[in-house]
Amino acid sequence: MKTFDPSSSSSALVLGLVAASLASIPSANADITQRPSNLHRRQAASRARGNTADQIAIYQQAFTDPVGAAQAANALPFIANQFATGSLPEYNLAEDAAQLPWNTNVPFVPEAAVDGSDAGGWQALPTIDGMTLNRTFAVRPGVTMPFYQSSGYDSNRVKRAVMIMPGKPRDCWKYTSLVQNALEVYITNPASAGSNADGSSSGGERTSKDDVLILGPCWMNTNDREAGAIQDGELYWYRGQWQSGMASRGPGDTALSSYQVMDSFMDTLFDKSQFPALETVVVAGHSLGAQMAQRYAVAKQPASYDTNISFWIGNPGSYAWLSPSRPNQNNASCADEYDDWPHGLSGTGLPPYARERVRDDKQQIVNAFLSRNVHYSLGLLDNGRGDTSCPGSYQGANHLERGAHFVEAVADLAGGRLPRTHSANFMPNVSHNDYSMLSYNISLFRLFEETPVGAVGSSSNMNGGARGNSTTNAQGNSGNTSPASSYKAGGLAAGAVAALAFGMSLL
Ligand SMILES: *[C@@H]1O[C@H](CO)[C@@H](O)[C@H](O)[C@H]1NC(C)=O
Ligand SMILES: *[C@@H]1O[C@H](CO)[C@@H](O)[C@H](O)[C@H]1NC(C)=O
Ligand SMILES: *[C@@H]1O[C@H](CO)[C@@H](O)[C@H](O)[C@H]1NC(C)=O
Ligand SMILES: *[C@@H]1O[C@H](CO)[C@@H](O)[C@H](O)[C@H]1NC(C)=O
Ligand SMILES: *[C@@H]1O[C@H](CO)[C@@H](O)[C@H](O)[C@H]1NC(C)=O
Ligand SMILES: *[C@@H]1O[C@H](CO)[C@@H](O)[C@H](O)[C@H]1NC(C)=O
Repeated sequence: MKTFDPSSSSSALVLGLVAASLASIPSANADITQRPSNLHRRQAASRARGNTADQIAIYQQAFTDPVGAAQAANALPFIANQFATGSLPEYNLAEDAAQLPWNTNVPFVPEAAVDGSDAGGWQALPTIDGMTLNRTFAVRPGVTMPFYQSSGYDSNRVKRAVMIMPGKPRDCWKYTSLVQNALEVYITNPASAGSNADGSSSGGERTSKDDVLILGPCWMNTNDREAGAIQDGELYWYRGQWQSGMASRGPGDTALSSYQVMDSFMDTLFDKSQFPALETVVVAGHSLGAQMAQRYAVAKQPASYDTNISFWIGNPGSYAWLSPSRPNQNNASCADEYDDWPHGLSGTGLPPYARERVRDDKQQIVNAFLSRNVHYSLGLLDNGRGDTSCPGSYQGANHLERGAHFVEAVADLAGGRLPRTHSANFMPNVSHNDYSMLSYNISLFRLFEETPVGAVGSSSNMNGGARGNSTTNAQGNSGNTSPASSYKAGGLAAGAVAALAFGMSLL
């Protein structure tokens, strides 16, 4: 993008970006639509909460028309940037917590107490009720990756692993407990895990608790190594670089990509001699954890079992964008870098894990991503930025706008619709609230019940090379074919859609 001239007219800019996108992604849809920059409108100091009915309509529309729902979300008038306005929006977490319609009866595993801090480093990985801290998983000889696992699981029985990424504070204990709690909601309340837009179940086979193995990897950093949470022989990274696949800073001189560690987990879980009944792995994350999940879904080294992995991506602060085109091309200070990894597939900063594959065949990377099972989950009140960088601002003003734009951008690459292995859900009344996102009915379905669409799809669906063909990839049906899309217009009781406060994350 060295020819980018910030002083040229916006239409020339867009043409240049489209041309660049075509140059690097030859078979992508040429018909990338020009969108107005919404950034300034979004940063207007509007604090109106918006109309709940509008939000419910978007939530419902997403089950059959995720791209239309994304467009509607982007058109919501109340999306102001809370950091730009300098004030919190009007949602009230205590009020949200009081709504809890479907999980008030579930005993809640509280977040474990932990010594240390995000900034100063964690001193120890705490004990969690119902989970065991595994410090013996050797990713390389003498190099171990600490993670929480469900206590006493039966490896012959486990059908599904749900692996949850931590947030920016590397709080693996907290996120592990959030997923424990979400599973408890699913198990305790047989009517939960709604795969229909009215929150009801589409009647698929229910998962038993013993079928699920929860995994919570602990991506610690150099501060945690110094403060004590990381022991000799254990992996750690620099700051939050684990999310973008960068190399570890230890132990010793071990420089291992966090994505190679993910690959080791996947190889282990899909090893039928270790987990003979396991068929599905869900890689889930919220906020920075969602950035990890999305970028791993982009950069992941292809494997034969990829059709059986689902990525649940909740409110990431930014994305690894798949083409150099951006919805908001408005900031000259990063005009040359806005598409660099981790915000795009350009630049010299790609981790060695993916560098050659991206350089050799970007289209193959895009196709592989389009063929994966990817669920975007976006809170309709999430108007914080998270990623405050200049390249982040090119993707939209805030979490919701970036997510809605990304859904549209993916559809652009796939012939105007989301690939049938992708879905988007928009949660009414939910802001940047991890537990509300994870314990939403549709999320319970995605995390604990859904068979990945790619795992049961046609053979062409398993072939990454066939995806992203703008002429052949357009879906002939109305929306994706997962059970979640079987919903046809229907009522959703007002107030039934609730948000539960359980801590706010930063990104
Ligand atoms: C730790 O995890 C690895 C990888 O799943 C597994 O092989 C090992 O049995 C686990 N250790 C314990 C004590 O469960
Ligand atoms: C979720 O399911 C419960 C029943 O378990 C139902 O009462 C509630 O309305 C559903 N929530 C949504 C958002 O549909
Ligand atoms: C993938 O899932 C399908 C459908 O559940 C199953 O038949 C298949 O055995 C799974 N493959 C692997 C590698 O687990
Ligand atoms: C443009 O990017 C710079 C550098 O990140 C940042 O300081 C500035 O606030 C950005 N401007 C806008 C309008 O976002
Ligand atoms: C893409 O579509 C065109 C037109 O239908 C077809 O000729 C071509 O073989 C397709 N390519 C792939 C990789 O499916
Ligand atoms: C959203 O929150 C408002 C205020 O708490 C409440 O009146 C409304 O019913 C909620 N809507 C949904 C869909 O939960």
